[in-house]
Amino acid sequence: TDRYAVIGHPISHSKSPQIHTAFAQATGQDIAYTAIEAPLDGFAATVRAFREQGGRGVNVTLPFKLQACELATDPSEAARLAGAANCLRFEADDRIRAENFDGIGLVNDVQRNLGHALRGRRVLLLGAGGATRGALLPIAQQGPAVLAVANRTADKAHALRTDFAAHAALQTGGYAELAGESFDVVVNATSTGLGGESLPLPAGLFAPGALAYDMVYGKGLTPFLRQAREAGVTALADGVGMLVEQAAEAFAWWRGVRPDTRAVIARLSVPLV
Ligand code: ATR
Repeated sequence: TDRYAVIGHPISHSKSPQIHTAFAQATGQDIAYTAIEAPLDGFAATVRAFREQGGRGVNVTLPFKLQACELATDPSEAARLAGAANCLRFEADDRIRAENFDGIGLVNDVQRNLGHALRGRRVLLLGAGGATRGALLPIAQQGPAVLAVANRTADKAHALRTDFAAHAALQTGGYAELAGESFDVVVNATSTGLGGESLPLPAGLFAPGALAYDMVYGKGLTPFLRQAREAGVTALADGVGMLVEQAAEAFAWWRGVRPDTRAVIARLSVPLV
């Protein structure tokens, strides 16, 4: 039995053990996957101890994603650009590879599960924190016509334009600058889905047939999704598919077998009401 775990603080809410256990059953892989709460000042020591006990890899969640990237000897391009990793793989030598699968998880959910192709479309990310940083490269690689980032603090969005200049020509600014623009896919990557605040989104932001996607999951209709619905959007999604799809990427990277995600997404979904 090969051992894997998710490390975070807090960790009790994590759905990762359930997801990876379901993947292992469905693919016949002999793994054990647990949740570990690391002390806030003890992430690296927790990783080291798990590895010494035979661990083969870990998922990493809040607040350790930045440290996970720093700890790695071999961070991927996506992890380096994001400055954060959500998945580590311990190699037979002393190396630790790091990946950030959040962005590809979002892209796969949007394109494959929800049926909204990104190529040639106008795509907007709301927020300029870690969640947006992790999603930009995989979205840019799909070839959208426009990739925009709007943030309450416009300077944080502008900083992303600089950091990603080699990969995408980002359109960046504050929310007021969105006036008169419309988008085919609008992703809420701010933390407002957790707190209950809404965003100052201008009228006409959603193009006809647009998808409104909130990265948070399990909260039902978030303030952002409610705003979108009130603006007439019928394609609404929360982040449960992104969660399961990033887990599938991690599982495939660790085990070399790609699990089917549909049944797991269906099981974890809550109605958007
Ligand atoms: P994460 O890693 O989840 O992205 P973060 O780096 O703390 O978390 O970023 C949180 C994001 O939510 C930021 O874009 C933040 O906007 P600011 O950069 O202007 O702070 C955004 N955010 C949080 N609360 C918000 C609110 N009430 N209204 C608008 N944006 C908010």
